[in-house]
Amino acid sequence: MTAKIEAKNLVKIYGNNTGEALELFNQGYSRSEILKQTGLTLGVAGANFEVAEGEIFVLIGLSGSGKSTLLRCINGLLMPTSGSLLVDGNAVEKMGGKELRRLRGERISMVFQHFAILPNRNIIDNVAFGLELRGVEREARWAEASEALDSVGLGDWKNKMPQELSGGMKQRVGLARALVMESDILLMDEPFGALDALIRAEMQEELLTLQREIKKTVVFVTHDLDEALRLGDRIAIMRDGAIEQIGTADEILAEPANEYVEQFLTGIDVSKILDAASISKWPRELVRDSESVSVALHRMKKTDTDYLFVTGQRRKLVGMITRDDLLPLSKKRQTSFKDVIREANTIPGDTIMRDVFPELRHSERALAVVDENGRFLGVITHNTLVESLDERKGGDGIAEL
Ligand SMILES: Nc1ncnc2c1ncn2[C@@H]1O[C@H](COP(=O)(O)OP(=O)(O)OP(=O)(O)O)[C@@H](O)[C@H]1O
Ligand SMILES: [Mg+2]
Repeated sequence: MTAKIEAKNLVKIYGNNTGEALELFNQGYSRSEILKQTGLTLGVAGANFEVAEGEIFVLIGLSGSGKSTLLRCINGLLMPTSGSLLVDGNAVEKMGGKELRRLRGERISMVFQHFAILPNRNIIDNVAFGLELRGVEREARWAEASEALDSVGLGDWKNKMPQELSGGMKQRVGLARALVMESDILLMDEPFGALDALIRAEMQEELLTLQREIKKTVVFVTHDLDEALRLGDRIAIMRDGAIEQIGTADEILAEPANEYVEQFLTGIDVSKILDAASISKWPRELVRDSESVSVALHRMKKTDTDYLFVTGQRRKLVGMITRDDLLPLSKKRQTSFKDVIREANTIPGDTIMRDVFPELRHSERALAVVDENGRFLGVITHNTLVESLDERKGGDGIAEL
């Protein structure tokens, strides 16, 4: 069976007169050496891979590693400097203008991070745009666009204008716009990159659900390891234009091909790189030490909690107070709670996340995160931790306090 997409020793060097640079590449010179000697950038450095029909193939790597370049070679937006890129066994670099237009118009669709939504057209016309270019009659294209919008959960938004949609919804429009073309290859370049973590996770789930139905061949670019592991049937890790390893998530995690991959995998382990300050959240309520018993009780009631952290001047953490300690004072009509302030469980802001776990396990209540001057930075609850692990990249989670 021929692969749906196949790259054979694919090299892409940006610029004109690439002969010398290619020669250097073939002699084994590195990307930086080639750049130094010729001024030309090696975008893809001899990539070999096959993507099977119906597979989600993920390209992951740091910024500048050549993911987008490789993706653009697949639909012929970029032509290989040497080597070959085959779609259904046909070499893209040998296609004429007409064939290329067919390739991009009918066989391959693309979804970008900042996909160009047309602001003056309503949602359904945005989705139908590609069909319009193809010359499909209005009614037919509306019917198809409507179906595509239904499938991405935007059925009720067809007649809205783009500015009425959230970021996540706009990405769905982008997806619908690709789906409506009914091409069997979908190229997605960081399609969820601009979305916050929760919406992003939602979109990933949805893409997987959708994929079970539509079974397209998807090449998905991301720089987010979690996203890659979640979505990819197979994952290719890129570095300086070259593919360092290709495999399933399990294969790559269990057996990193080299030190670079190993570092790449661990480098993104946020339980190591995130610290207490970065995952802490601002609590819904605090109380200053100069405020009163009744104010403190009011805030506890409002936020349905039985304790509050107390701050002093310049946000310095003074301690915490509990409702049980305040109620007797309230009965005695005492205003100040200074006598019942307890010591709070604190953790320095630069504690790495891995060391936050044990601290939290031993603490019944939230941990107060403080800087080196004892200033209050936020709280970490048992929920914060779960959310941070879920989100990894740390989006706008909801503080549960
Ligand atoms: N049009 C261009 N002309 C010249 N060099 C380019 C061009 N586009 C990209 N490059 C260079 O090619 C290399 C690979 O870029 P590419 O955009 O493919 O990386 P990427 O992995 O998609 O990065 P990112 O994650 O930032 O999108 C980079 O060094 C980049 O500067
Ligand atoms: Mg890119």
